[in-house]
Amino acid sequence: MAVKWIVAGSSGLVGTALVAALESAGDVVVRLRRPDAKSQATQTGDPSPVWDPARGVLGDGVLDGADVVVNLAGESIGARRWTRDQKERIVSSRESATSVLARRIAGQKDKPTLVNASAVGIYGDGGDAVLSEASPPGQGFLADVCRRWEAATLPAVDAGGRVVLARLGVVLSPSGGALAAQLPLFRHGLGGRLGGGAQYVSWVAIGDAVGAIVHLAKNARIDGPVNVTAPEPVTNRQFTEALADVCGKPARLAVPAAALQVRFGSEMARELLLAGQRAVPQRLEETGYAFSFASLGPALGSLLH
Ligand SMILES: NC(=O)c1ccc[n+]([C@@H]2O[C@H](COP(=O)([O-])OP(=O)(O)OC[C@H]3O[C@@H](n4cnc5c(N)ncnc54)[C@H](OP(=O)(O)O)[C@@H]3O)[C@@H](O)[C@H]2O)c1
Repeated sequence: MAVKWIVAGSSGLVGTALVAALESAGDVVVRLRRPDAKSQATQTGDPSPVWDPARGVLGDGVLDGADVVVNLAGESIGARRWTRDQKERIVSSRESATSVLARRIAGQKDKPTLVNASAVGIYGDGGDAVLSEASPPGQGFLADVCRRWEAATLPAVDAGGRVVLARLGVVLSPSGGALAAQLPLFRHGLGGRLGGGAQYVSWVAIGDAVGAIVHLAKNARIDGPVNVTAPEPVTNRQFTEALADVCGKPARLAVPAAALQVRFGSEMARELLLAGQRAVPQRLEETGYAFSFASLGPALGSLLH
């Protein structure tokens, strides 16, 4: 029988690819759309369940018969400067969406599995320490966001539901996110490492992000935190070299930390660009997920050609 999926945040980078993969596998997908979602405007006439997480609203019966809920919803972390208001939106959008879903799952007789997005940012600035799911949360704004985001799933956990916390690394896709943002510069030979370039980048190719989410949803013995990252994280310097190589251009420049701090503000520059995590996908590997791309060079080559 076809699996029935409910996807929140489905219009984003990961959601778009996930929904396409599920639909092409013949599964049933219900996309939750917010009143102001961009997908709403482009697909008029498409009946959507009522979903307004900012007001704590999810229509009655929306989760009935669902096997899996995937929650990817949240205000973009990198799109705008971290003003006080923007930081509040980043936190509250994730807490409210997650808690509406988790509370509803808690009240369902047949509880769908919840695969809830989180991020390797939960580990804070990990330096060059290898970080598995057993590593403790770190310090800083992003670590706090992830902690609160994950804690909002607790009503579903406490009610006996299966909840997987998919701690995503930097998702690589030419269609959006960090890679698409850097590509124009690298294609013009203007790419460069960020600060000293020693900070780690835990990346994952978009196809593996989607494949891992499906693997997590379908393996009943998996719950709790799972790093959704490729087995071979790289430093920013290595990432810069690999991307320049695939673009066929040099990347000899370095963007000074001070310039990033002026451009993005010091907290955002420090946590998002100058710090990093060397996370490894211990639980994905233990449970038999086969990565399409373990190494960065082949992943970039495939994504960009
Ligand atoms: N991409 C990465 O490298 C990466 C890395 C680590 C963690 N993550 C996390 O994984 C999740 C999915 O990533 P993504 O790259 O697909 O994110 P994305 O492209 O920013 O999409 C997130 C989606 O969340 C919904 N959304 C946006 N603003 C919202 C708000 N204020 N309140 C509630 N919902 C809102 C939107 O979907 P609708 O319009 O359909 O509601 C949006 O398309 C995100 O929460 C992200 O933080 C991503």
